[in-house]
Amino acid sequence: MCGIIGYSGHRPAVEVLMDGLKRLEYRGYDSAGVAMVENGHLEMVKRQGELEVLRRALPRFEGRTGVGHTRWATCGRPSDRNAHPFISCDGKLAVVHNGIIENYATLRGELESRGHRFTSDTDTEVLVHLLEEHYRGDLRQALADTVRGIEGTYAIAAIHEKGEEIAAARKENPLVIGLGVKENFLASDVTALLSYTNKVLYVMDGETVSLTPDKVSLFNAEGTMVGREPSLVTWSAEDAQKGGFEHFMLKEIFEGPNAIHNTLLGSLDMIENGEVLPRTDFQAVKLVACGSSFHAAMVGKYAMEDIARVPTTLELASEYRYSLGAREAPLVILITQSGETADTLAAAREARRRGCRTLAVTNVVGSTITREVDEVLYTKAGPEIGVAATKTFLSQLLAMYLLAIRIGYAKGTLSHDSMRGALYSLRQSSNMVQSVLNHIHDIEEASHMIDRAEHCFFIGRNINYPTMLEAALKLKEVSYIHAEGFAAGELKHGPLALLDDSTPVIAVAIKGDHTYEKMLANISEVAARDSPVLGVGCEGDTELTRLCEQVIYIPKVRPLLSPIPVTVALQALAYFVAKRRNCSIDKPKNLAKSVTVE
Ligand code: F6R
Repeated sequence: MCGIIGYSGHRPAVEVLMDGLKRLEYRGYDSAGVAMVENGHLEMVKRQGELEVLRRALPRFEGRTGVGHTRWATCGRPSDRNAHPFISCDGKLAVVHNGIIENYATLRGELESRGHRFTSDTDTEVLVHLLEEHYRGDLRQALADTVRGIEGTYAIAAIHEKGEEIAAARKENPLVIGLGVKENFLASDVTALLSYTNKVLYVMDGETVSLTPDKVSLFNAEGTMVGREPSLVTWSAEDAQKGGFEHFMLKEIFEGPNAIHNTLLGSLDMIENGEVLPRTDFQAVKLVACGSSFHAAMVGKYAMEDIARVPTTLELASEYRYSLGAREAPLVILITQSGETADTLAAAREARRRGCRTLAVTNVVGSTITREVDEVLYTKAGPEIGVAATKTFLSQLLAMYLLAIRIGYAKGTLSHDSMRGALYSLRQSSNMVQSVLNHIHDIEEASHMIDRAEHCFFIGRNINYPTMLEAALKLKEVSYIHAEGFAAGELKHGPLALLDDSTPVIAVAIKGDHTYEKMLANISEVAARDSPVLGVGCEGDTELTRLCEQVIYIPKVRPLLSPIPVTVALQALAYFVAKRRNCSIDKPKNLAKSVTVE
């Protein structure tokens, strides 16, 4: 995820900025840059690649006020020109930004028609041009006026050549101020500040900031100055990288609502306007992926068939590349969080060799898969550091629903109103995830049912069959418990032989789903073999409470979208079980984040 650092004080700003950017490296980035006030004018240097590349390009700067940025591309591929900061046409203002400007295309068109020249493909650049239009000598006021016309999310820092002031604004992207003596700091992440100060002010949504070496002023959205007591941070730098969470996995589970929000923000217009899959003259779809991404593809198959009524087949990438292609579909969708998985890349090449159209769903802008396919739909979960996929998996589910809605609407299976209704329901899914997270202690409590088991079953039906395959994969990855996911109807065809009182079964039954009654029957079968059953179902479902030893409740949800909250609940379950077993949660043994070998 992008990182912001700002400094105004008595030290050479470039040193503080580069040190701060170094501390933000763990968030992942593909380019970096700095801008500073140097003897009454602005200087800027930005480079694609490692911070070392930027460091080598820096001249000797003396300025005491500046901003820096590490970029993790979401709009515009990684390159020098798309790196931040951006400078206004008159060369007097510089801006760095985290987040997504949803209405940037409209704003860019308007700005260009008023004579602004753009130098990048990013959404961010509109900010500096708007700031230039609004600037009348008061930088913070100009920024407040700028963000009024912005739709989307942001943490922004801006400087002007004339002074020592940094102006900042925040909406749904973190921003924190570090307080020093005759110097003040600003960052998107407290990690970047801890070597200078532990006295901080958190900027709240809708606020703007004016920061100079001697003074920090906060203003609310109405422009009224607000007072706030500083907080003292007691975390170490490593703790701070994890945002106070004990592990990246838990932090990234908590980032689920944001991952959903950003994936939707970045794609809704593209889906509605048909910019994704402009041609939908195909009769069938094939989904190809590995590991967790394959489970997202499985959920995608149910979504495609339910929402778009398009016949959909699935293939593991490692199998597809060697298959005969007898049941080839004209559109092949490849799902890969990293965009670098060797088998998925090979499958993409094979699909093109067979004459199929290819679309990749990936989380990494500029990754190899984006050069191997005809089209790309980006998930916008931000970089994931824990090896086990959590928030990226969630964003892949969103992408599957979005594509199903796109295809359904284009083919006329969904009316305009139903399409809007479906998108609205997807938007609500981030609230459902938040509600699961608000009750995470119940999940932690339930984890004691599993932590001593050697084997564990996960059962579900219909669209929650793949959810349970994914839940089993998550548990085995991080806790090293042997876990298997089954379509619940398959139990009696073999696996029942393994059940006894030492094998917990986690069963999902969503009230309202047409397989709900069948699931209750399966739960009874399992309980009759003395297996402890941990149910997952909708709040208020007393039937489940009666049949199961314990139940994890999720909010009431349309069965089709239930994999979203169920997934998050079971990711959290895997996490707490692994924690009880003292496992290396963020780096499980034998696993790598990006599998670039066959
Ligand atoms: C599991 C996990 C892996 C990946 C798989 C594919 O938590 O992360 O199973 O899903 O290696 O990786 P991508 O999605 O990068 O192609």
